[in-house]
Amino acid sequence: MKPCDSEIYPVSKASDASISDAARAGRAGSGGVSFDATTPLAREIADLTRRREAIKDDPLPVPSKTRVITVSNQKGGVGKTTTTVNLAAGLARGGARVLVIDLDPQGNASTALGVEHRAETASVYDVVVGESAIVDVIQKSPEFAELYCVPSTIHLAGAEIELVSLVAREQRLRTALENFLTETERENRRFDYVFVDCPPSLGLLTINAFVAAQEVLIPIQCEYYALEGLSQLLRNIQLIEKHLNPVLTVSSILLTMYDGRTNLSQQVAADVREHFPKEVFTTMIPRSVRISEAPGYGQSVISYDPSSPGSLSYLEAASELAHRGVPR
Ligand SMILES: Nc1ncnc2c1ncn2[C@@H]1O[C@H](COP(=O)(O)OP(=O)(O)OP(=O)(O)O)[C@@H](O)[C@H]1O
Ligand SMILES: [Mg+2]
Repeated sequence: MKPCDSEIYPVSKASDASISDAARAGRAGSGGVSFDATTPLAREIADLTRRREAIKDDPLPVPSKTRVITVSNQKGGVGKTTTTVNLAAGLARGGARVLVIDLDPQGNASTALGVEHRAETASVYDVVVGESAIVDVIQKSPEFAELYCVPSTIHLAGAEIELVSLVAREQRLRTALENFLTETERENRRFDYVFVDCPPSLGLLTINAFVAAQEVLIPIQCEYYALEGLSQLLRNIQLIEKHLNPVLTVSSILLTMYDGRTNLSQQVAADVREHFPKEVFTTMIPRSVRISEAPGYGQSVISYDPSSPGSLSYLEAASELAHRGVPR
């Protein structure tokens, strides 16, 4: 039998124990109709059940100081925004206080987090180009209790050009974020995580994101061309580290849109793991219809369809991020 649900792609193998559990459950729960526990579908169901159970009882550690993580890859459509939003949602669901800064003029992260971002909305543009403070533009996402967003509007599209003539053009986001974090710390409302969602380019907005962060998370799509342009990205990060932000480090690589049925996905994943054994997350994000549907409802997949494999994978990735802690 081949997998019948496009949502379910095997990411890891189920244990024999969980297979027999699922087989027992299948017999008991279907009015005497039994199913063969050795079929791919039964294995996948057992695997999902085991992973759901594991994540349910997994309390997330809280970092001792705010982790600022820039999510970047100059290649377009690799899952930067999807990863930003869902990791942030996964951590907020686990009790962390999380801020997402949408630094992409497309405003996709703002859409997915269900916050207002019409042209006239006070936004990250006012922070990096104008003189607004983050506290003046921040919005609460309806998604989770402690999830916040600094939205982006279409005005940000002109920011790359406007920034060129401004003083300290590479440091504008860092200065604003430092002021904001100091203020929230003083008021005992410390943020645990700040994610910055970057546009698909290596311009001044992305440089601002690199200068403001301690960590870079690179999503890599499990497709051909995935590694092309990666060396350019890593070179740029090294330059930023040398000249503008000595603490910056590539802490995490997340493989996205993985389809275990294709040799190509498996090959790309193996290549990336070989090159970056320390940075790559064990968790891979499967290609999933639910993940791509969620932003249309102004939601993360974690609230849109909590029990879907896509949601489960992002929860596992959020847990991995939290447990790995800050790289030394
Ligand atoms: N795991 C997934 N399964 C299915 N579709 C996905 C998955 N991850 C992302 N997508 C879809 O792929 C498209 C690109 O994803 P996303 O917007 O997150 O990429 P991006 O790198 O932020 O793009 P851009 O470079 O334009 O900012 C979106 O339509 C998104 O819904
Ligand atoms: Mg994006």
